[in-house]
Amino acid sequence: MNAPLKSSALAAKVGDVDVITIRRDFPILNQQINGHTLAYLDNAASAQHPQSVIDAISRYYQHDHANVHRGVHTLSQRATEQYEGAREVVRQFINASSSKEIIFTRGTTEAINLVAESFVRPRVKPGNEILISALEHHANIVPWQHVCKYTGAILKIIPITEQGEVDFAAFEQMIGSRTKLLALTHVSNALGTIVPVEKFISVAKRLGVPVLLDGAQAVPHSSVDVQKLDCDFYCFSAHKLCGPTGIGVLYGREKILNAMPPWQGGGDMILTVSFEKTTYNQLPWKFEAGTPHIAGAIGMAAAIRYLQALNMNHIAAYESQLLHYATEQLQRISGLRIIGTATHKAAVVSFVMQGIHPHDLGTILDSQGIAIRTGHHCAMPVMTFFKIPATARASFAFYNTFAEIDQLVAALHSAREMLM
Ligand code: ALA
Repeated sequence: MNAPLKSSALAAKVGDVDVITIRRDFPILNQQINGHTLAYLDNAASAQHPQSVIDAISRYYQHDHANVHRGVHTLSQRATEQYEGAREVVRQFINASSSKEIIFTRGTTEAINLVAESFVRPRVKPGNEILISALEHHANIVPWQHVCKYTGAILKIIPITEQGEVDFAAFEQMIGSRTKLLALTHVSNALGTIVPVEKFISVAKRLGVPVLLDGAQAVPHSSVDVQKLDCDFYCFSAHKLCGPTGIGVLYGREKILNAMPPWQGGGDMILTVSFEKTTYNQLPWKFEAGTPHIAGAIGMAAAIRYLQALNMNHIAAYESQLLHYATEQLQRISGLRIIGTATHKAAVVSFVMQGIHPHDLGTILDSQGIAIRTGHHCAMPVMTFFKIPATARASFAFYNTFAEIDQLVAALHSAREMLM
């Protein structure tokens, strides 16, 4: 093994900006938990909010709140402008060609369910196939199981390798004329694998198979361009990218969305309603029944602006350094095994430690101020593949430091000594 890297020798900078300066924007990070400085390493579950996001939401509630699309009065107009302005911010962030292609949902899960119910379910017949991978989050498994149950379609699973990569050769054998959708994660939440989705999309396109990407873990950590990807649907959640919970996005190609029936019915998604016939609103509102999460959309736009100011490429580069350092340090702990060793990974390290259940590890780390996630990470088939019930998972964001990784590593060493 090479000499260990030293955190003090590494520059914690996102582009030109010092991470210490960035951390001042995140009030929640500056606190003690159980008598220790908080090390928040559970960003794949939910990221923290900069003050600008908190301020945007609170400003909206203090000055501008009213229902959208419904009022001639000033507050309603202001709320509508900000809500629709947020849609434009999202459009530009993922480079969609029109804001009609941006549907606000409750999150990634609801976005996938929308596609399952409105796009796939009406189109599939018994014997048709929906293709997913063994790396998926439950949100990209269960909606397809529902569709299959009610239509007789078959869910096919592309296997993964021991490294936690999606087996491309197997995929090429599995996709074919029966395949009606390919639904793939862009980045695995459980292992951090970055799936080379471009390769998969290009095969699917050749065969005319529509593609949905679960981008929940990709969008916060890299620059995503849906036109370049050439996918048909892209789904993500605001709370993983420093925005609020309860709001997310379904991107869909305009032509496809136009051809899809509405999913949920209610106010705002209609043009006219009578007992004889109801006509529907245009995109994107056709898919947004009921009063939306207005403050959520505004908060998400503020989060995107914050990330863009730092620059997504700089964020990705710094997080990759964090990943490299953490992997290097964790590998030196005896009895620790990293689960998921793909060549290309986002800043997620899942691991198990001989003789210590991940849940116990999570509790011990919490007692030392360190927040990680333990469990199956809503990806039980991944755990089954690796023949483990759970992992401990440290997931990093651009506001984490090398010193926090040292804090994690020291705590793991002492957990080992304590319990062995
Ligand atoms: N999907 C979230 C995670 O990976 C909750 O933790």
